[in-house]
Amino acid sequence: MRQKIKIAASILAANPMRFESEIKKVERAGIDLIHIDVMDGHFVPNITMGPFIIKGIKKITKVPLDIHLMITHPERYIKAFADVSGKGDFITFHIEATKQPKKVISLIKKAGLKAGISLNPNTKTKSIEKLLSTLDLVLIMSVYPGFDGQKFMPEVLPKISRLRSLAPDGLEIAIDGGITPENIPQAIKHGANIIAAASAIYKTEDPYKAVKTLKEIAKQAVKKTSCMN
Ligand code: DX5
Ligand code: ZN
Repeated sequence: MRQKIKIAASILAANPMRFESEIKKVERAGIDLIHIDVMDGHFVPNITMGPFIIKGIKKITKVPLDIHLMITHPERYIKAFADVSGKGDFITFHIEATKQPKKVISLIKKAGLKAGISLNPNTKTKSIEKLLSTLDLVLIMSVYPGFDGQKFMPEVLPKISRLRSLAPDGLEIAIDGGITPENIPQAIKHGANIIAAASAIYKTEDPYKAVKTLKEIAKQAVKKTSCMN
């Protein structure tokens, strides 16, 4: 069974001096998740935000968080992130970043949060297939992680179809990187139900309007996909 379609707004492309108003704009438009890109300058060649910022964000919004950890040794930091987040929030780590994925999943779940694993574009689904029953979410990267504003890689889409065919009921499958109004229908057709976007929301003149448009496109794409099934 397919999960509800959700749009996640990545604040990586928002104005960091105005996170509160930037988040309110998408909240008013009915955003489903706030996607937070945590980068350590080691797993990826960029450094962004950590628990300190997330603690502040939790105070200003009730929208669930989708915390995307692009950090080496996530097992060392789950507690720090769990301490500043809450029930209903996702913590997603990269399979390439740890030798102990089972331990990381259990740390996230024991903290009462939802557990996700992300795959870089060149990582095969086989690396996580055995873990699927223990996960709440799989995040397929459609760019190499590190920066917003990169070009979508359609070659990752078959990985989504494969995972959807294996997924237990209720598994959320997210796509992240280079999302535009044009490629959302393909992602949904392949079985993604969470669409994460930074530039397509925050690098537009009106993020409120952008979210409304992405939601409408997603809704239409679901209708079309269900007609074909
Ligand atoms: C990339 C991040 C993405 C990024 C997406 O490393 O994980 O979440 O913010 O940005 P856009 O939508 O601009 O490609
Ligand atoms: Zn991300």
